Amino acid sequence: MNPSYAERVHLQLNFQVDVCFLGKESMMIKVLLLSSLLLISISSGCAGLTSAFIRNEWPSVDIPLNNDVFAVPKGYNAPHQVHITQGDYDGKAVIITWVTANEPWSNIVRYGLSEGKYDFSAKGTVQNYTFYNYKSGYIHQCLVDGLQYNTKYYYEIGSGETSRNFWFQTPPAIHRDSSYKFAIIGDLGQTYNSLSTLEHYMQTGAQTILFVGDLSYADRYDNHDIGVRWDSWGQLVERSAAYHPWLWSTGNHEIEYFPHLGEVIPFRNFLHRYPTPFSASKSSSPLWYAVRRASAHIIILSSYSPFVKYTPQWKWLEQELKKVDREKTPWLIVLMHAPIYNSNQAHFLEAESMKVVFESWFCHYKVDVIFAGHVHAYERSYRISSIKSNVSSYPSSDKSAPVYITVGDGGNQEGLANRFRDPQPDYSAFREASYGHSTLEIMNRTHAFYHWNRNDDGKRVPTDSFVLHNQYRGDSHRRRKLKRDSI
Ligand SMILES: [Fe+2]
Repeated sequence: MNPSYAERVHLQLNFQVDVCFLGKESMMIKVLLLSSLLLISISSGCAGLTSAFIRNEWPSVDIPLNNDVFAVPKGYNAPHQVHITQGDYDGKAVIITWVTANEPWSNIVRYGLSEGKYDFSAKGTVQNYTFYNYKSGYIHQCLVDGLQYNTKYYYEIGSGETSRNFWFQTPPAIHRDSSYKFAIIGDLGQTYNSLSTLEHYMQTGAQTILFVGDLSYADRYDNHDIGVRWDSWGQLVERSAAYHPWLWSTGNHEIEYFPHLGEVIPFRNFLHRYPTPFSASKSSSPLWYAVRRASAHIIILSSYSPFVKYTPQWKWLEQELKKVDREKTPWLIVLMHAPIYNSNQAHFLEAESMKVVFESWFCHYKVDVIFAGHVHAYERSYRISSIKSNVSSYPSSDKSAPVYITVGDGGNQEGLANRFRDPQPDYSAFREASYGHSTLEIMNRTHAFYHWNRNDDGKRVPTDSFVLHNQYRGDSHRRRKLKRDSI
């Protein structure tokens, strides 16, 4: 008899707990559970879990512009839409961005080690732009560099009565055992579900967001309102992004190729508003780049820029992967927008071309995990690749392969992708069409805790959890063991 859904979830979660964390007695229990699970898996013939839980607490409509969540601070020319991102390769700099509505005013960021006491300053730049008949506010960008690791900085922007104060925390130094907690959000938009995801993230204690593309969904509006909805989204995320760095990757909703409006340069709104530290990793484009943070090397790819052999993105990635030093940053994480393993009807096989071009590198360099969005649901794969079969529709188990995780469930106005392909393919470990976000808590060079948190009735509910074993350390451990055993 097949187990119930709840029994299978319980067993699967136990299966995924690392036995090295357990005492002898509980380890015996876990081993028994593991044996049961293996038997159940074989007898049921079921590779993974398709959760029956579907909840759409609010309709997938955008929050009205007159809602308080979009309110611009009072006062003439007050800075708003404040957000920060990493400003260099190794986490000792931030780029601070803000908008003033009426005039450029000051480009200066004043900052220091205690609130209200700003001993240092940095000067940035300001620009504005038009998009069809929309004219943006004055967008300020300022690099604050030369920071100390693991330090809380306070900063002030603006002038006089309408100046505003925020803070950020720099990461620990680059080191193989530096612990750090990331969150992963994708396809966020600006609905009540988006706000719920954002507020749940803010309860997790995570320190940096890995954003997997599709930010504002402003491109679903017409004409002038496209720019207006980029502004409202900037105001929505300020509650987090002014304090915690968001590392940006782009999705199809950032392309905004609109010949009927005379707007034919892709990514224009994104590029004017959300700077990335691309030159620090010798990238030629803000759309693909890499940073190192604590014990992680994070590579951001652009699904909607050329990536086939000999293109700038392909050449850059080839060089960047060679630079990864797993002794210093044992965790190798890749972000992209379109998932290259996906068993949802939505966007099925859409990223096959990127799989063909990059999958062998992901396995060769033992990427730990690849996060994507695009599909408005959650899905996690086992470690699989299509390299051996050379037929992408039939991947097989591959210990060198990354875990693929789709987190396109931020809550945008297009709604959930709730039609999964049936039966669930063998490579798919867990899938559910609900809104939510993920966290990845790196503990040391060998282990990280992963959670997918479903939005549920206003509470954050951890739903899919497992211990991620580092691919590089695991492999070198296996090599050492092989050598020792062969003596
Ligand atoms: Fe998308």
